[in-house]
Amino acid sequence: MTASGSADLVIVANRLPVDRVVDTDGTLRWRRSPGGLVSALEPVMRVHQGAWIGWPGGTDEELEPFVEDGLQLVPVTLSAREVEEFYEGFSNATLWPLYHDVVAKPLFKREWWEAYKRVNQRFAERAAEVAAPGAMVWVHDYQMQLVPQMLRDLRPDLKIGFFLHIPFPPAELFNQLPWRRQVLEGLLGADIVGFHLPGGAQNFVRLVRTRVGHKTHRDLITLPDGRPVRAGAYPISIDASDFEDLARSPEVTRRAEAIRKALGNPKRVLLGVDRLDYTKGIYPRLRAYAELVADGTFDVEATVFVQVATPSRERVDEYRRMRDEIDMLVGRVNGDLGRIGRPAISYLHSSYPREEMAALYRAADIMVVTPYRDGMNLVCKEYVACRYDNDGALVLSEFAGAAHELSQAWLVNPYDINGMKAAIVEAATADPKEITRRMKAMRKTVSEHDVDRWATGFLDELDAVKPMKPPIRRR
Ligand code: G6P
Repeated sequence: MTASGSADLVIVANRLPVDRVVDTDGTLRWRRSPGGLVSALEPVMRVHQGAWIGWPGGTDEELEPFVEDGLQLVPVTLSAREVEEFYEGFSNATLWPLYHDVVAKPLFKREWWEAYKRVNQRFAERAAEVAAPGAMVWVHDYQMQLVPQMLRDLRPDLKIGFFLHIPFPPAELFNQLPWRRQVLEGLLGADIVGFHLPGGAQNFVRLVRTRVGHKTHRDLITLPDGRPVRAGAYPISIDASDFEDLARSPEVTRRAEAIRKALGNPKRVLLGVDRLDYTKGIYPRLRAYAELVADGTFDVEATVFVQVATPSRERVDEYRRMRDEIDMLVGRVNGDLGRIGRPAISYLHSSYPREEMAALYRAADIMVVTPYRDGMNLVCKEYVACRYDNDGALVLSEFAGAAHELSQAWLVNPYDINGMKAAIVEAATADPKEITRRMKAMRKTVSEHDVDRWATGFLDELDAVKPMKPPIRRR
């Protein structure tokens, strides 16, 4: 057993919750990442003497643990080769496409798997060093699936939780993975394995039963030594009141007006906001819209589609290819259908601060979120949280986890271009009363289930886990 540290709550995630910023004078500082996970976990981290273990970005840089804004951060170094093999390779060119319905073909490379094991072991060792006796450790996402069991081997006294932020695929797809059993066994090191949807938890339990051969009953798995592992659904959310406050602020209100003005005060603004990822269905969505402009349903003088695409994983081949395809589509659509000062699609390949996002959400009459597959999708929840005016329509893919909660959206199948066109037209021509009715219902859901409730719900269950008695050693 490794010597223990002093943190009562340890978060293990691929990334640290801060981004490195280099000022003009060359000094290095850290800035809180915009993600919701940090804001959700920050209060519990403070109460529990928390530590966060993650990759600070960059390569080959040994950084000592540091405290930033009162949070204990423990950097894990990756070499350039590990970034290539563990992060870009196994995490984002094997697991990511495999877990997202094989939307792109997953690549299975043995040297990537070796790097994945090595890096997971490093994260587990760091967690074992900083966790206090009996502490809770919460491991996050697909990059870290071996950490639970590796950590349990080092520190059987810990309560270990795991949460998967992306979909967990059915056996028919998961079974392609040459290391399927090792991944399942890695996850089984946790006391609780959390997913967004009950379907993900069921896929996992079924795989454990058929592939690993453990006993299962509903959401409970019993290991040969008697230790129970629970698989459950914990749909993540956003800090809804924070977004609403932001949306109500005078600055954001002014900015929303300025955005509409800059777009030529059109009658109607449609909006898409995504990481530039092939799972997000950006291409079919823009095609559907372009067809509506081409057939005269929408006129570029009166309607515009604003698409924000945040750069992501730019060194992975599939991402490069998809960027070129979308660049080409936007160029062609604007060339064919745009007029001077009136592009059909206003395309922004960039990331923006929360304030700008809130202003865009307020400026948009219709938010279009059409992933082929998405664990949850938080953009649509952010849109709903910002629409305190109960206005705005949401067109949402039925393959986003969020569709299970936001059933009042106009739900679409992103593979069905005509269906998407029809839904966009319906949303655009809906009676304002109908828009309000739907938005009110979605706002109720989002405000009642915010990210704080998600985090405390999971951690309360983890805290209630009864530690296993240590095995009796035979002489
Ligand atoms: C998804 C994943 C996260 C990941 C994020 C950004 O939301 O579930 O684990 O951090 O994408 O991707 P990146 O590769 O930049 O960390």
